[in-house]
Amino acid sequence: MAGLRSWLFCLTVIAGSLFGAKAEIKFTTPVGRLFTYELLRETFQNDFEPLTKLYGPVGHLYDDPMTFKCNEQGFPDLPEWLRFIQRHPLDNGFLYGTPTSLGKNIIEIYAVNKRSYDTTRQILVIKAVPEKMLPYQAEFFIQKREVERVLPPSVQNEIKQDLQYLWSTQDLEIVNITNALDRGGRVPLPLAGHYEGVYVKVGSETFFSKCLESVWTTVHQKQCAAGSKGKAPEGCHFCRIPSNCITWCKTELFNLAKQKPEPPAPTVGSGVLEAGGDFNPPESPPSRDFFPDYMVTVIVPLVLAIVLCLLLAYIMFGRREGVDGENAFCSIQLYHHHTVHENAEELRSMAANRGVPPPLSTLPMFNSRTGERASPLHSDSIPLIMAQQ
Ligand SMILES: *[C@@H]1O[C@H](CO)[C@@H](O)[C@H](O)[C@H]1NC(C)=O
Repeated sequence: MAGLRSWLFCLTVIAGSLFGAKAEIKFTTPVGRLFTYELLRETFQNDFEPLTKLYGPVGHLYDDPMTFKCNEQGFPDLPEWLRFIQRHPLDNGFLYGTPTSLGKNIIEIYAVNKRSYDTTRQILVIKAVPEKMLPYQAEFFIQKREVERVLPPSVQNEIKQDLQYLWSTQDLEIVNITNALDRGGRVPLPLAGHYEGVYVKVGSETFFSKCLESVWTTVHQKQCAAGSKGKAPEGCHFCRIPSNCITWCKTELFNLAKQKPEPPAPTVGSGVLEAGGDFNPPESPPSRDFFPDYMVTVIVPLVLAIVLCLLLAYIMFGRREGVDGENAFCSIQLYHHHTVHENAEELRSMAANRGVPPPLSTLPMFNSRTGERASPLHSDSIPLIMAQQ
């Protein structure tokens, strides 16, 4: 029984390694040259296929939307030099970038089928091998392109051919392709004729052509500083496809041959320190008087605060204005109280005796202070309130 189990285990390991070996794709790419790998949805569709062959309608070809997730094995993300782009689940994805150091990168690619939510995995092994650095490099900006439209090899070739004419040499290699958005570019308006823009860097062993050298002339620099997009110099217009045309003012030349003077070799010493005198500890610094600082930072604000407190207290409690006014107000209240009281008394006496004349306050021309009243006959004014019978 145990023997059978170990046999089975061995078989699965062998099958697994065989299967794993089949799913591993190997690439060798030179350092300092552009690497591109297109994640074809078709091939991943084939990986999903066995299931659909078994259970799906016979002969039906699926074209499922897919998304990809790529990372370096054992890491959450891709290596620094490698970038991934897929615009839409119905587009192919691209891995691209320029390796900067030697070594092997193992990339895991997970594809998620957005119809069935199946996943499949591919392993990509990218081995960067040494390559001579190209001493003359130039970067061009292609305004009317998006990076995933430039990455297919056919388009890369078109662009390279134009640049070969411009450089007047066949010896030209694409070094880097970058989305302008990764270089501080803006997201374009979602309108026709607006693109993100792409930077293409090429390198060569041959020195720059006359056309390229015109970038260094003052005329060109003045034109560009004035804000124009820059026109191709006479006889240097080499783009056959309008969307591949470069923006002259964003062209930059790098002469890496000139920039690198050999650093002087470090002089190697004996490895033993020279004999010196005894160690002299530094003198302790002179003592400082902190009293003035203390005065300024603690005492002065404290005194100020106390003074302000006292001032506020004096204003709030000591100097109360309007005591007389308050008294006057009280006397008015008293007076009101008295009149109300008197009127109530009067009403009460009236209620006791119905034969009395109507209340004074209901008569016209009534002087509330003196109680004196003008005869209604001698007055030409009309009583404000009709006396009740
Ligand atoms: C390629 O371009 C990207 C973005 O500008 C940059 O980060 C990277 O260092 C470049 N690689 C090389 C080898 O020039």
